[in-house]
Amino acid sequence: MTTLRLRPEDPADEGPVARVLAAAFARPDVATPPEVALVEELRHSDAWIPELAMVAEYGGEVVGYALLTRVRVCTDPGSYPALALGPVAVAPNRQRIGHGTAVVQAALDAATELEERLVVVLGDPAFYRRFGFGRADRMGLTSPWSGLGEPWQALVLPPSTGDEAPPAPGEVVFPPPWSKV
Ligand SMILES: CC(C)(COP(=O)(O)OP(=O)(O)OC[C@H]1O[C@@H](n2cnc3c(N)ncnc32)[C@H](O)[C@@H]1OP(=O)(O)O)[C@@H](O)C(=O)NCCC(=O)NCCS
Repeated sequence: MTTLRLRPEDPADEGPVARVLAAAFARPDVATPPEVALVEELRHSDAWIPELAMVAEYGGEVVGYALLTRVRVCTDPGSYPALALGPVAVAPNRQRIGHGTAVVQAALDAATELEERLVVVLGDPAFYRRFGFGRADRMGLTSPWSGLGEPWQALVLPPSTGDEAPPAPGEVVFPPPWSKV
């Protein structure tokens, strides 16, 4: 039986990942959706964490993708690291059969293994609440998108030690590639 394989991307995946992103985010007004360039630029930036670029492979083909990259939360004073989730994409002919849920959960599990504590995402709560995401503005986290309300979400990952303090409030700063989307 063919099963879904979840693993970090390797260099051979770059083309297939771009094709999944282009198909999933296709819009009539652009030849290539901006999510393709976003991933390529993040891949060559300091924000990239190789273990947290997760592909879903089915029958030898890349069919899904979930990316976690570095952002910083600026507090007063100081700052601390967090992760941004996105883009998340599943090939159109493989959507709504659980691949998106599986690849996002694999990325979040890998982040927990790396002892990351906070993930933010901008997206539809109907999809992201299943992972435990909730309104980021209610955690005191702001961003250029916090005015959107519900789509601006955050998830506190389980700590490996006893430190269960909630994340400090602050402004989440995204690195320059994010200005593409
Ligand atoms: C969003 C996406 C990654 C979900 O992947 P998936 O494999 O289809 O998701 P799953 O099968 O694991 O889960 C399906 C559930 O997710 C939710 N969901 C799926 N696609 C959704 C969408 N576009 N908007 C809102 N909710 C969505 C629904 O609750 C759905 O359940 P239902 O089929 O009972 O209605 C996929 O649809 C996709 O690539 N969409 C285009 C790109 C995109 O919008 N990415 C997310 C940016 S925030």
